[in-house]
Amino acid sequence: MCGIMGYIGDENAVNVIIKGLEDLEYRGYDSAGIAVSNGSETTVVKTAGSPSGLWDKCKSIKANIGIGHTRWATHGAATEQNAHPHTSEHGMFSIVHNGIIENYAELKSGLDGVRFTSETDSEVIAQLLEKEYTGDLKGTVGGVVKKLKGSFALGIMCSDYPDVLVCAKKSSPLFVGVSPECTYLASDISAVADKSMRIFRLNDNEIGMLTKDSFKVYDTDGCRIRKSEVKIKSFDKSADKGGYEHFMLKEIMEQPTAVRRTLDEITADGKISFKGIKWNRDEISEINNIRFIACGSAYHAGLVGAYAAERLIGCPAEACIASEFRYMYPHLDSNTLVVIISQSGETADTLAALRLAKKKGAKTVSIVNVENSTIAAESDCVIMTRAGKEVAVATTKAYSAQLAVIYALVLYIAMAGEKISKNEFQRYVNELKKLPDKIEQILISAEVGRIPDKILAGDYVCFIGRGFDYCTAEEASLKLKEISYIPCEAYAAGELKHGTISLISDKSLVIALCCSSELKDKIMSNVNEAAARGAKIITVTDIDGDGDIKIPNTLDMFFPSLEIIPMQLIAYYTAKNKGCAIDKPKNLAKSVTVE
Ligand code: F6R
Repeated sequence: MCGIMGYIGDENAVNVIIKGLEDLEYRGYDSAGIAVSNGSETTVVKTAGSPSGLWDKCKSIKANIGIGHTRWATHGAATEQNAHPHTSEHGMFSIVHNGIIENYAELKSGLDGVRFTSETDSEVIAQLLEKEYTGDLKGTVGGVVKKLKGSFALGIMCSDYPDVLVCAKKSSPLFVGVSPECTYLASDISAVADKSMRIFRLNDNEIGMLTKDSFKVYDTDGCRIRKSEVKIKSFDKSADKGGYEHFMLKEIMEQPTAVRRTLDEITADGKISFKGIKWNRDEISEINNIRFIACGSAYHAGLVGAYAAERLIGCPAEACIASEFRYMYPHLDSNTLVVIISQSGETADTLAALRLAKKKGAKTVSIVNVENSTIAAESDCVIMTRAGKEVAVATTKAYSAQLAVIYALVLYIAMAGEKISKNEFQRYVNELKKLPDKIEQILISAEVGRIPDKILAGDYVCFIGRGFDYCTAEEASLKLKEISYIPCEAYAAGELKHGTISLISDKSLVIALCCSSELKDKIMSNVNEAAARGAKIITVTDIDGDGDIKIPNTLDMFFPSLEIIPMQLIAYYTAKNKGCAIDKPKNLAKSVTVE
């Protein structure tokens, strides 16, 4: 989390950096700051809140070099004092840091007598650099980097070297963009992609030295490393609301296109093919265990994958929360397929799970929305979702595109292993291709009516479902709570009477997803149990049912793609009626690069 932007060139660095931080705001937006130099003096300006708060404070500053940061607080509150950049006691070093320095307390205790001014873990880096400074900037940074434990992407300025920016990283992304007239540093490739002619990705434990017209990379012992450029096919920077009040609503509406574009790339003439998959048919049919690993909504997409895989491929399949995966001490081998799901391709826990899976010899395939992301770069095989840039923190179109890829992947493996007949495969593929139109149909007719008011009036909201419907209940609940801040839960409907039903009263609202054809009767019993205790009930059924919300018919496995659309709209309008910051919910960030 957090965003870094750096610049050296002839333009006013202040403008370039604040603009860059505004683009990176999705990574964290609780406070921001810049450190800029005009060659003789370094000025540091900070603000609590969004980076746009810096414009006014920096009006009269002119500079040609600088670093900036937009923060998602980990150590210390979101105050101006804790905002980056942090400066060393005597002002020699200014630093910005993404990540967490796990041994900061130990390092700090070795800096006896040094006056710290923030509660952050990051400040220790600036103080350590000043304490250990030998006059050799590259050597000093290399020495300090060796002492840091945890994860970091760093932008560093030193007053002795007024025309140089230094950067370094471990387990947190960092990119350098080089143009004939200037050089950029950023924690996200999107911030340099449209500005630079050549883009470089820093690897762990590399030190980058940037000047206006050069970029050189060294290891922590000072030996030069030759880098190759990152090849970018295309970069979607469509950060435009297109007339909608919020990015989230725009992205909800873009779902038919996102799913269609994603499916068009992997399905043609009734067949499914993945350019990114390099295993042959024999290797695929040897897969006897599948793990879908991800966080948050992507994990919910994985849950759908696990239900689908058990059913169609007939092997054990499980969705795993990425932050727990390592601590499950999982048993994996070369016949295990690990499916990593991540919109950003940078989520720290998901990346760590991928690395463990590779170490244990599993086959790894990632489903990502960002082409040059770290997860894409490190997986054996990559399948792209073509959702386009997703700006709202709460995912909608990327989730729908993930589901589309997951369905196709499960069908592809089932077919390769002859686990389903050709006819069955064809029936699924034909229906899969209809999903974009059906999503469109829901969006055209979507009416969430007074459901948001009912949610706001009650004291308890719970989503229930069975089978594939249960997967949607989980995602629907996350959508509502993350943007409207309303506590709510999701339950496998059969679990209600094992505890949760004690919470149900006449002030409760139960939203029941009842689309699954084989489980209709069972879920209706659970609905009746809740209604008998006074709960208000909203049911979602297929078009032939008598639900409060009706969606087009499809095969059970595909209902999650349709049911989630009205649930996203309910979450959106509830948050809107409540006056919440829909695109940037409090305490959240789009890309979670700390564990
Ligand atoms: C919720 C949401 C998050 C992400 C999660 C994983 O709306 O967006 O739960 O799904 O943080 O992020 P990625 O997919 O980037 O790994």
